[in-house]
Amino acid sequence: MYLDRIKNPSLWAKVVSAESAAQLIKDGMTVGMSGFTRAGEAKAVPMALAERARHDPVGITLITGASLGNDLDRTLGEAGVIKRRMPFQADPGLRKLINDGKVMFVDQHLSETVEMLRSGQIGPIDVAIVEAVAIKENGEIVPTTSVGNSATFALLANKIIVELNIGHSASLEGLHDIYIPTRRPYREPIPVTSPQSRAGLPFIPVDISRIAAIVITDRPDSCASVSDPDEGTAAIAGHLTEFLGYEVNKGRLGLSLAPLQAGIGSIANAVMHGFIDSRFNNLSMYSEVLQDSTFDLFDSGKLTFASGSSITLSQAKMDVLKNLERYKSRLILRPQEISNHPEVIRRLGLIAINTALEADLYGNVNSTHVSGTHMMNGVGGSGDFARNAYLSVFVTKSMAKDGRISSIVPMVTHVDHCEHDVDLIVTEHGLADLRGLAPRERAPLIIENCVDPSYRALLSDYFKDALKLGGQTPHVLDKAFFMHAAYRDSGSMLPQLAKPKAKAAVAA
Ligand code: COA
Repeated sequence: MYLDRIKNPSLWAKVVSAESAAQLIKDGMTVGMSGFTRAGEAKAVPMALAERARHDPVGITLITGASLGNDLDRTLGEAGVIKRRMPFQADPGLRKLINDGKVMFVDQHLSETVEMLRSGQIGPIDVAIVEAVAIKENGEIVPTTSVGNSATFALLANKIIVELNIGHSASLEGLHDIYIPTRRPYREPIPVTSPQSRAGLPFIPVDISRIAAIVITDRPDSCASVSDPDEGTAAIAGHLTEFLGYEVNKGRLGLSLAPLQAGIGSIANAVMHGFIDSRFNNLSMYSEVLQDSTFDLFDSGKLTFASGSSITLSQAKMDVLKNLERYKSRLILRPQEISNHPEVIRRLGLIAINTALEADLYGNVNSTHVSGTHMMNGVGGSGDFARNAYLSVFVTKSMAKDGRISSIVPMVTHVDHCEHDVDLIVTEHGLADLRGLAPRERAPLIIENCVDPSYRALLSDYFKDALKLGGQTPHVLDKAFFMHAAYRDSGSMLPQLAKPKAKAAVAA
C-alpha cells in the first residue's frame, strides 16, 4: 500500500522499522530533521530515538527548520536526547530545559542556518531525517507540509532517513519549489521576482545511494494552537488596515498593497484576519508560515497567491489539507532560506507583520527574552523580514498578564529588532508611525498612541527625567529597567497591582 509511493523498486529493501532507523543515530551526532512550525516533521524515528534513550543514553545536536509538533521537542528534551538545539523551538518543556541551562539553544535567523552548514561554519550533518510524501524514480524526495531546511539537510548529510508519511495526501506533490542558491563566490541572483515565481524543482534531488533507511508512518501533523481573534487583536487589525488605507490614499501603495508576511502566533494570525473585511483586494503573501488566516483570506476572495515554507493549521482548519487541490495552484512551499531570504524580501518590498513581547520608547523590540533572560521561542524569521521589508510592523497587545506587564517599557531588556528595523508599532490603543522620526520624536508618539492609559504617566515621567540628561536617545541608566524590577519584586509593573513581598517568578 505504500510501495506505490516509492517509485524505485531498488529502494523497497530499505524499508525498516523506526527503531532500526534510529540505530543509525549515534551519541554526539548532529541530526538535521525536517519540521517547520509543527508541520512536516519526522515523527516515528525521533519517537523511537527518545524510547531508545531510556536504556541507551544518546545525546545529539538537533537542527530543524523551526518548531516541531507531536510534543517532539519536549519528549526528546526530557529523554536527554537534545543536548544542543537550533535554530528555533516553541515548546514549554524544552523552553524549561533551555532556561535551566540543560540544553544549549542557538537562537538563529531562520534564513541563516543552512548558509552556515553549507560553508562548514557549523555541522556537518551526520544524519538527515526527512518526512516525505513520496520518493521518486531517482531517489528524489517529495516533502510534505513544510520544506524548512530539509533540502539542504538531505543534500549535505552523510546518511538520509526518509520517513514516508502515507497519512499525508499524495496531492502535496507539486506544491514545493526547491531552489538551492549557487555556491559563493559565484552566486547568481535568486530568480524569485514575485510570490508566484517558481525557481527550482518540485522535489529534493538527492543521491539515491545516500538513502540509508525508509520508515513508513501515518502519524499526522499536530494542530496549531492559535487563539481566536478577540477585541484587542481586532482593534490592532483595525489600526493597521486604517493606516494602510491612508498609505493607499497617499499613493504610496495600491489596493493590492505589497506582498504580506505574517509571523507566528495568535496575534499575527488574528491581524491577518482583519484584511478579510478591508477594502484591499488581490492581496498576496510572501511569508514563512501559512496559518489559518491564509486560507480564510483565500476563501474570502481577498488573497490571490501565497508563498511560504510550511502550512500550519488549527484543528478547525485541518480540512484544508484534504481539499488541497482547491488551493494548490495558488500556493508554493519553499526552503526557508528562500522564503526568508534578504535579497528576495528586499526585492519584493514586503509588508512584514511580526509580534513583539515588548517594545521600548524608541522603537527597539524584544520578541524572545522574557525579562531579558528567559527564552520564549526564538527570533525565528522575524529578523529576516523586519530588517529587509518595505514596511516593518510590530504588533503587540499593550499589556500582558492581566495588566501586570506593560508591553511598552522604557528600555527593552533584550534587543531582537533594533530601532533601525522597526517602522510601525501597533497595539489595541493605536499605531505609532516611526518612519523618519528621531528617537526624541518617537517616544511621545509611542506613549500617546500605544501605551495603555494606566501606564502612560509612569512612562511620561521616565521620558521627562531622561530628557533632562540629554542624548540622542535619552535614558536614565539606573532607572531604565525600573518597571521590570517592579514586576520581579512585586508581581506587577503597575504599583496599584503590586503584591509586596511576593517575589514574582519570571514568566515562562
Ligand atoms: N513579558 C512577559 N510575558 C509576555 C509579554 C511580556 N512583555 N508579552 C506577552 N507575554 C506572554 C503572554 O502572556 C503569553 O503567555 P502565556 O503563553 O503564558 O499565555 C505569551 O507571552 C504569548 O503571548 P501572546 O500574547 O499569546 O502572543 P503570541 O501567541 O502572538 O506570541 C510571541 C507572541 C512574541 C511569543 C511570538 O510571536 C514569537 O515567538 N515571536 C518570535 C518569533 C517570530 O516572530 N517569528 C516570526 C516569523 S514566523
